[in-house]
Amino acid sequence: MPLLSSEVIADRVRQLASSISSTYANHDLLLVPILRGAFIFAADLARAITIDHRIDFLQLSSYKGTQSVGTVSVDKDLNTDITGRSVLIVEDIVDTGRTISTTLDILRDRNPASLEVVTLLSKPSPRNIDNSIRWTGFEIDDVFVVGYGLDLDGRYRNLPYIAKTTTTVGGAFL
Ligand code: IMP
Repeated sequence: MPLLSSEVIADRVRQLASSISSTYANHDLLLVPILRGAFIFAADLARAITIDHRIDFLQLSSYKGTQSVGTVSVDKDLNTDITGRSVLIVEDIVDTGRTISTTLDILRDRNPASLEVVTLLSKPSPRNIDNSIRWTGFEIDDVFVVGYGLDLDGRYRNLPYIAKTTTTVGGAFL
């Protein structure tokens, strides 16, 4: 059984898009999906948002050294000046919050009119950035999940549903 079927995901994405469309009516909205995990969620969300908006992408990577705290660096920056724009970061999953917290720090310095986050998934890790996360699709347990953009070593992003990596049948996550 998928943890979240494609139908359940599609319903929730429509709800999020509806709320986002009302919130940002008459705003200069810029969606900023974080590559690569958010690309499928962002593609569905953008098509369900009914107000005019722009999209630009930020690609980040995380390096973990011997210390427990990894550093997040920018692999591909935005091509858009966000000064005065209403920026909505689109993330696949928030775990420790390190990725989203770094993203918020980087973008806040550029003086957007507003800066908020929509994440499809959230894990119950302790963190102090939850005030910045305006929309969460699903709260999940502390398990590793794949599908709908999320990967394990670069694989399984194309699954149309989200599955826990503990359940495998014939090599596929179901
Ligand atoms: P954080 O920086 O600890 O909040 O982790 C967020 C990033 O880690 C996400 O953008 C994903 O790229 C990755 N990640 C965290 N949990 C999972 C998971 O269960 N499956 C796939 N990627 C994950």
